[in-house]
Amino acid sequence: MEFDMIIHNGLIVSDTTVLPLGNEIGVKNGKISCIGMSLPSGPKTERVDAEGAYITPGGVDAHVHLAQTNAPTGDTWETGSRSAIAGGTTTILAFASQKRTDTSLIPVLDDYYQKARGQSYADYGFHFILTNPTRDILQKEFPIMANEKGVTSVKLYMTYEPMKLTDRDLLDIMISCRALGLTTMIHAENSDMIALIIEGLERNGNTDPFYHAIARPRIAEDEASYRAISLAELVGAPILIVHMSSKVAVEHVRHAQARLLPIHAETCPHYLFLLSENLKSKPSDHFCGAMHVCSPPLRHRVEDLEDLWQGIANGTFTVFSSDHAPSKYDHPGGKKLGLVNGIPMFSKIPNGLPGVETRLALLFSESEACLPPAEARLSLPRFVQLTSTNPAKMYGLGGCKGSILPGYDADFVIWYPTSSDQAPTEITQKMLHHGVDYTPFEGVKIRNWPRYTILRGKVVWNRDSGKVLGEMTYGQYLKRGKGEVLVGKSSLTPRGMLDNERDMWMPKR
Ligand SMILES: *[C@@H]1O[C@H](CO)[C@@H](O)[C@H](O)[C@H]1NC(C)=O
Repeated sequence: MEFDMIIHNGLIVSDTTVLPLGNEIGVKNGKISCIGMSLPSGPKTERVDAEGAYITPGGVDAHVHLAQTNAPTGDTWETGSRSAIAGGTTTILAFASQKRTDTSLIPVLDDYYQKARGQSYADYGFHFILTNPTRDILQKEFPIMANEKGVTSVKLYMTYEPMKLTDRDLLDIMISCRALGLTTMIHAENSDMIALIIEGLERNGNTDPFYHAIARPRIAEDEASYRAISLAELVGAPILIVHMSSKVAVEHVRHAQARLLPIHAETCPHYLFLLSENLKSKPSDHFCGAMHVCSPPLRHRVEDLEDLWQGIANGTFTVFSSDHAPSKYDHPGGKKLGLVNGIPMFSKIPNGLPGVETRLALLFSESEACLPPAEARLSLPRFVQLTSTNPAKMYGLGGCKGSILPGYDADFVIWYPTSSDQAPTEITQKMLHHGVDYTPFEGVKIRNWPRYTILRGKVVWNRDSGKVLGEMTYGQYLKRGKGEVLVGKSSLTPRGMLDNERDMWMPKR
């Protein structure tokens, strides 16, 4: 058999180990055919020389908002997915967002699918954002979504007026998800605490962007995270708490994991690199803090960042996602919605930061690939787990995405060799490919960048030539299977309950 592509002279990183130099990857028909020494080339084999650099699986970014109707000024599928591959991410999971008035998910998925189809440089799938979980949806449509459409995860909000769900809603949804093997993602912040604080801040005229970070204190995240965990424990459902930013909330997760509960946690680049001081106004621009408005907000102290780095290193976090949520800054329908008659009103600023392109380089730069062991924040296999393998497994793409193994899609990032001086040393808006007019990471130091991105055996990004080589029609819709539970186990008896107590009231599967 003749390989279509052989990648040689690289250090292949898996989720458990780094293979020694000399191991090569043979690619055939877009899939990894084998890994071995001195693979034979044929006349048509494309040989890619990694020049001694690390090769990691193509990034899987499981938390990307693109072209949602509630954020019209940010990225289209074209710009968002282009940005992904230029940053080494070959798979993105975006959201199909149900409105309260939508009584069926089927047209919602169709709508979002039509926006993405033929418009994506990266492979993609959807999670549902559920805001109106009718009985019909839970009982009739969930099985269709899981078994026919390949949508095997839902995201639930405990905050935001247009989207928040009651605890009862959360429980009903978790029970349905558990029965079908769907993954439940939860945005955990206490809505009433936040509403109370916003009201008080506004009453006192404290409406600058910085007050966004005051309006959503850590305790709101801590309480809601613990509540989400308790709800999940009651019904024995696995959950993932998304974009965690607070030490105490993460401790709740850690304690739950220690009790073998299937509680997963996600964090994002901005909670590791950025502080709330970014929300303050500058003399040149009173409103610029709006560029860093996201929820949960950026926290105040360097120690807050350190706490999260600990969870990255010690395994508390299962996945590391961008939560790419793009809104243009200098646009009346974007962040400037928060300028009301010229007066900053933080509560009206659209939430979210762009970051799909910068996610991998930021974390890789802090890994043992770029730093001596004493300074490195994480190992290379841990980098691969967090950015590719775990999200792929959790969201039903195991066996296809997120690992460098025979039979998997030939999706790779080839980095610059450690000795190279070709990689950029700091992030600037100018080098990015998204449709947003700023990056929240402007000036943040990095130590490497994806040199080549390969998607299903095709080089779609070559930084040396400064080019996105892929085509917008190349990205494929991914019908996902059931997600794997990567932490703990389901069906433990909740603390203090008798062993058969839950069976007395739990709906039969
Ligand atoms: C791991 O990190 C988390 C988050 O900072 C922390 O709560 C936990 O105590 C750490 N666990 C261990 C065993 O170090």
